[in-house]
Amino acid sequence: MERTLVIMKPDALQRNLVGEIISRFERKGLKIIGMKMISIDDLKVEEHYKKYVGKDFFSHLRKFMQSSPVVAMVLEGVEAVSAVRLITGATKGREADAGTIRGDLAMGIQTNILHVSDPAENPKQEIKRFFTEDELFDYKKIDMSYIYSPDELKDEK
Ligand code: CMP
Repeated sequence: MERTLVIMKPDALQRNLVGEIISRFERKGLKIIGMKMISIDDLKVEEHYKKYVGKDFFSHLRKFMQSSPVVAMVLEGVEAVSAVRLITGATKGREADAGTIRGDLAMGIQTNILHVSDPAENPKQEIKRFFTEDELFDYKKIDMSYIYSPDELKDEK
């Protein structure tokens, strides 16, 4: 099974959207295998947003990401990285498709509620940045045979 990182940003907490966001991922059929509330320190912001360090908006992005705690979550599923990106929607909230989380709940580009793993940014590495192995749970979920067909599960462990 593929794993992907989701970070509910300070705007999600301030706007009381955490429950709704978790619920959308749960209803989709994604399995929550880790979740915690954290503060993101300077080092983690710079590592996480390495490609944006030096951009005009980086100092705002850092300030925003440190303006309150965030909720980080690891989701698991067949092709979970792309499935989560699809229901999250485009980066700029006001341009994201209706029906996606950002399309329905966000207007901003920085204040876009969620960070989700990008396949180009090594999701496994990203998960390691925020979660230790013993914070990730391998457990049986009883609805799997109603979420996937046996065919889709046969190559998964
Ligand atoms: P995220 O998915 O967390 O990945 C990088 C983040 O940088 C992005 O969401 C936005 O919050 C932020 N970002 C990207 N481009 C811009 C921009 N042009 N101005 C402000 N913030 C941006």
